[in-house]
Amino acid sequence: MKKIEIAEGIHMLSMNVEEMLFEGIWEVANGVTLNSYIVKGEKTAIIDGVIGWDGVPETLYKNLEEIDVNPKDIDYLIVNHMEPDHSGWIENFAKIKEDFTIICTDKAARLVNSFYGDSDRIRIVKEGDTLDLGNGKKLSFHPTPNVHWPDTMLTYESGTKTLFSCDMYGAFGKMEKHHFDDEMTSEEVEFFEKEGIRYYSNVMTTFTAAIRKAIQKTEEFDINIIAPGHGPLYRKNPQKIIDDYGRFSQYAEGGGKNEISILWGSMYGMTEKAVNFAEKILQREGIKVNKLEMPLESQSEMIATVFRSAGVIIAAPTYEYKMFPPVAAALDELGRKKVTGKAVFRFGSYGWSGGAEKELAEIIERNRMKWDFVESVEFEGSPKQEDLEKIEAGIMELIEKMKEKIVE
Ligand SMILES: Cc1cc2nc3c(=O)[nH]c(=O)nc-3n(C[C@H](O)[C@H](O)[C@H](O)COP(=O)(O)O)c2cc1C
Ligand SMILES: [Fe+2]
Ligand SMILES: [Fe+2]
Repeated sequence: MKKIEIAEGIHMLSMNVEEMLFEGIWEVANGVTLNSYIVKGEKTAIIDGVIGWDGVPETLYKNLEEIDVNPKDIDYLIVNHMEPDHSGWIENFAKIKEDFTIICTDKAARLVNSFYGDSDRIRIVKEGDTLDLGNGKKLSFHPTPNVHWPDTMLTYESGTKTLFSCDMYGAFGKMEKHHFDDEMTSEEVEFFEKEGIRYYSNVMTTFTAAIRKAIQKTEEFDINIIAPGHGPLYRKNPQKIIDDYGRFSQYAEGGGKNEISILWGSMYGMTEKAVNFAEKILQREGIKVNKLEMPLESQSEMIATVFRSAGVIIAAPTYEYKMFPPVAAALDELGRKKVTGKAVFRFGSYGWSGGAEKELAEIIERNRMKWDFVESVEFEGSPKQEDLEKIEAGIMELIEKMKEKIVE
């Protein structure tokens, strides 16, 4: 666990977590950090208190002592969000200290009780409520419902102009030496932008409407530092991550980089021949291609890559009168995540009846994905010259269609 003073009287405790599945699903190929913050005035508050993934509170207590905070002197636990990656410590803390106050929204209060047992130590806060810690440290609370869960809020410290944004403005990716935007090399900036896209698309994209409202709310604050619950802090240019999140919210609704993702699968290589042909055409046209072979690709990477692309090619054969299941499952997952409005072209091989195309229409309809399709190309067995010509024409049409969706 690392300890860094991020502003006068405010410390961050940050730990890297690896080799786990985030939310029990998402591979975190490059790890993830969990950030907690201690604000010291005359009274002391901990924001998003996190114990190690090991669940050992002693790790946290030891680290607190090293920054001169006796855990027993903590007066307030500020719970921006009850998901256990931010709140997992409450139950344990209650064992070492009697009199402390949990500050959270009304929706979080219910979760405190249902997760960790009834508590009479809760103070429910509403928009704009404040808590004066003394010594110039004053917190205010700002609910942002459904920025991930219904219970979430932002906390703002007016003395140092720090916004503790919890899941909002977060990113996957572990932090090694550097924690602030102004310390990062250009490679690290690029790394965290990619990890931000993966985090947003895997964890947050379903809540895009709420995130847009939270972006608007953020614009109302005078901000020196954005301090999220996961990933880097922004003090040189807090606007950068606000703008990034604005762009990601557009990716969720059909926008994307000037890239085409080929989401594909093939049992015996017939569809694969056409995939290789499509890749060559895209290279000829100077468009970045991302090949995602299902089921070999991780769901985390698949979602992130399709999410950030303005164009998508689905290449999948028919399997038992439906679409090749790993590709169908990937599409359903994108539908659940509400990745809508993409420009798309599909092709695939069949043996006798076909059926993939019908299932594709069902998946898109069922998930209300509003994907904008170029007419599909289906071929019997191996693709013939005339099939390849139709595929090339489909790709050219896709490239035209996606032009208006490019957001860089
Ligand atoms: C397990 C299995 C199920 C299949 N089910 C169908 C089907 O229901 N209808 C159909 O037209 N073709 C079906 N086929 C044939 C394939 O769609 C056809 O062989 C196609 O060329 C496979 O393309 P691929 O090599 O890209 O996987 C099936 C093939 C397999 C191996
Ligand atoms: Fe969360
Ligand atoms: Fe989180």
